[in-house]
Amino acid sequence: MIIVLMGPPGAGKGTQARHIVDKYNVTHLATGDMFREKIASGDDVGVKIKEMVESGRLVPDELTIQMIADRIEQPDCKNGFILDGFPRTVEQAEGLDMMLKEHGLFMDGALEIKVDDNALVDRISGRFSCSDCGEGYHDDFKPSAVSDICDCCGGEHKFVRRADDTAEKVKTRLGIYHEQTAPILPFYEQRNMLHTVDGMGSMEDVKINIFSVLDGLEDSNCDLHDSKEYGDVRCNYKK
Ligand code: AP5
Repeated sequence: MIIVLMGPPGAGKGTQARHIVDKYNVTHLATGDMFREKIASGDDVGVKIKEMVESGRLVPDELTIQMIADRIEQPDCKNGFILDGFPRTVEQAEGLDMMLKEHGLFMDGALEIKVDDNALVDRISGRFSCSDCGEGYHDDFKPSAVSDICDCCGGEHKFVRRADDTAEKVKTRLGIYHEQTAPILPFYEQRNMLHTVDGMGSMEDVKINIFSVLDGLEDSNCDLHDSKEYGDVRCNYKK
């Protein structure tokens, strides 16, 4: 299964991606996480992009597309992957189309998590995560069971907050989302690939709705492959 997960900053892409990975056994490719790892490693790319990422601006398309093109060739992507935060511009969407074609793969669909702008600042300003295992939390909507201890891995005093999660930077990120990323939605809609899920409900409700879309995609795309409609394009599913 190859899925693009879309939605504004704070929509719940990372939160839901973790559930999708567990259920569908795909690899989670989050460009934001990949860039933050490069910044933390202090390598040349990390130094170059640090200011862009921490101020909420986009990293140049060429660098981002190349990073994903290299990543999908890794063995852990063989069973499928979920792209979280990529593509973010029409150029990146076209780049993705091209790289999938080159590998004889097809995209199953683009899943948009739709959330009102005014809910996003609350979600982002309350966010924190475990620096050891990556589990995400929220001060109000998903606190850890015991203060300062990760529910998931038991790590103590490992919680961190992101440098770009201030109210001012969220405004920049949201502006960029509407200007440069939202125009990709019609790109996928015209190809009958866009599936929109209401992201205003509880995390559990959003998860159920996403699973119902993905279950439907898995069934219909397997039928398409059975009908040989995709010619010699490699099937994304193990039959
Ligand atoms: P990235 O890391 O991708 O950030 P983002 O898109 O802004 O998305 P977030 O991670 O902030 O939000 P999310 O949707 O994952 O929400 P979450 O699940 O955590 O990108 C960061 C930066 O990297 C970019 O600004 C850019 O500089 C660069 N970059 C990345 N990709 C790039 C690309 N392709 N091209 C160029 N540059 C790129 O949820 C948020 C909070 O809400 C959490 O606390 C969670 O617990 C809570 N929550 C989740 N769901 C619910 C719910 N249903 N109800 C209540 N609370 C909820």
